[in-house]
Amino acid sequence: MVREIPLNEWMKNLGMDRLEKNIDRRSFLQGASKIAGLSLGLAIAQSVGGFEVNADPSFSDYPFTLGVASGDPMPDGVVLWTRLAPDPLNGGGMPPHSVPVKWELATDQNFRHIIQRGTELARPDLGHSIHVEVSGLKANAVYYYRFKCGNEISPVGKTKTLPPAGTSVSALNFAFVSCQQFEHGYYTAYQHLAKEDLDLVFHLGDYIYEYGPNEYVASTGNVRTHSGPEIKTINDYRNRYAQYRSDEHLRAAHAAFPWIVTWDDHEVENNYANVIPEKGQSVEEFIVRRAAAYQAYYEHMPLRKSTMPQGADMKIYRDFEYGNLASFFVLDTRQYRDDQANGDTSSPQTAESLDPKRTLMGTEQEHWLFKKLDQSKTGWNVLAQQIFFAQRNYGTATKPKYSMDSWDGYPAARQHVLDYAKSKQLNNMIVLTGDVHASWASNLTEDFNDRSSRIFGAEFVGTSITSGGNGADKRADTDKILGLNPHIKFFNDYRGYVRCRVTPERWQADYRVVPYVSATGADISTRASFVFEKDEQGLKQVSTTQVPLGLQLSTEVEEDRNKAHSRAHLKQLEKKGAKVPN
Ligand SMILES: [Fe+2]
Repeated sequence: MVREIPLNEWMKNLGMDRLEKNIDRRSFLQGASKIAGLSLGLAIAQSVGGFEVNADPSFSDYPFTLGVASGDPMPDGVVLWTRLAPDPLNGGGMPPHSVPVKWELATDQNFRHIIQRGTELARPDLGHSIHVEVSGLKANAVYYYRFKCGNEISPVGKTKTLPPAGTSVSALNFAFVSCQQFEHGYYTAYQHLAKEDLDLVFHLGDYIYEYGPNEYVASTGNVRTHSGPEIKTINDYRNRYAQYRSDEHLRAAHAAFPWIVTWDDHEVENNYANVIPEKGQSVEEFIVRRAAAYQAYYEHMPLRKSTMPQGADMKIYRDFEYGNLASFFVLDTRQYRDDQANGDTSSPQTAESLDPKRTLMGTEQEHWLFKKLDQSKTGWNVLAQQIFFAQRNYGTATKPKYSMDSWDGYPAARQHVLDYAKSKQLNNMIVLTGDVHASWASNLTEDFNDRSSRIFGAEFVGTSITSGGNGADKRADTDKILGLNPHIKFFNDYRGYVRCRVTPERWQADYRVVPYVSATGADISTRASFVFEKDEQGLKQVSTTQVPLGLQLSTEVEEDRNKAHSRAHLKQLEKKGAKVPN
């Protein structure tokens, strides 16, 4: 049973009571001309559960500007999402009343066969978002949904339930995506993804970026601009999600499939670790900021009410069973981690990074994962998570360099997973990854330093939707990195997503890429396809294609991404007038 938290308690918990009142009044006044016709029938407003409720609102502007979404599917249900925002970039444009939103679920897209309907209150303390948890549905079935409020009706969304747990399933088709810096390019990849034939989509983080306008600049230049400065308050984060959802292709991709989402760092701030921020903020300030960011994330994602944040905490790790075919363990490698070692610089392993006590998932999540893996009876065990899992040396053989923000920065925590795989003789682990704005495919072995070590799985790293700009087929350091890390079999630096076709014996990953994102209209290609089977033989490349129109070779290297983040952070510090570190 989810406790309904009164608005006042929420605001106090989040330290935002005073802030929120000011913002609401300001945004309401700013949007006054727009919402003059949004009478909201104050005369008929009534109080329900401590909230003023307007039972019959009318809107001067369309309230379903952020589209619709569904997510966290189960065999008998799914979450349906929308948020009312007639003035999306200015706090939403809704007055501080709750508004009833009707929803309908049908078996056909024309809604001739409506099988369930209901009403959910869109509450001001949740940004007038709603999360409808529909149950009693058929397994493995397609449904259509829409919302109504006043005289307004939302776009139609399509969704699908999971097959019954444990039952025989012959195939699953899904895609995974990550990293969609709005300024770095157009969401052409989503335009193509929305047309795929998929059962599911996973988002592995960096759904938004926190930067002010043009602070984080793509190597091929920014083509759109963040509205508003670096985001810190609940209102800032809401406006940023709204700006990202202003993109029709992102809305179309949400409306086409159920999504299972997790976050990485930029939903709050670059490379934060638990409650430790980048320089220039106190931990106390950052805890308030993280609370605002987590709340806005909840408000904009099709998540279950059990995920709702409690103050500055939000439990997002969870699992999904797809028949007897695959178990998906959706991880959170941000909220519970120890601070990055070695000053979060690219560095060799040191006593600090090798400390066996260092945690990435936190003890509770790690115990949960191994318990769930113990119980798993499915053909594949999948970690859907944020950061590069396999060892990846991008220095030299004698002077190695590793990312301290990835699993390489937490080698003891990774060793727990490797030891588990070895002790259980697993041969079916798949890791899905985002974060690094490039496509990679890697064998997972019991010991990355031993070429004869047993292969127990594969990691598929998806490139970004836009982050990093156009990219190229190959980077200046591609050959060096592949040579230094023989378990890594593929690299590509175009933007796109990964489409997977999973059957009981075979996992195929298709690297779907566009040659540019700095202009609209790019075609999609499958740059390469890899197959992994449970034969301990590792990845096999089954197709490769030349991508037309793209840059073939860039001058970029792995550390350029970190440098672009550092430049962005420097701009932020300069704006604050803070002492700039050397
Ligand atoms: Fe990213």
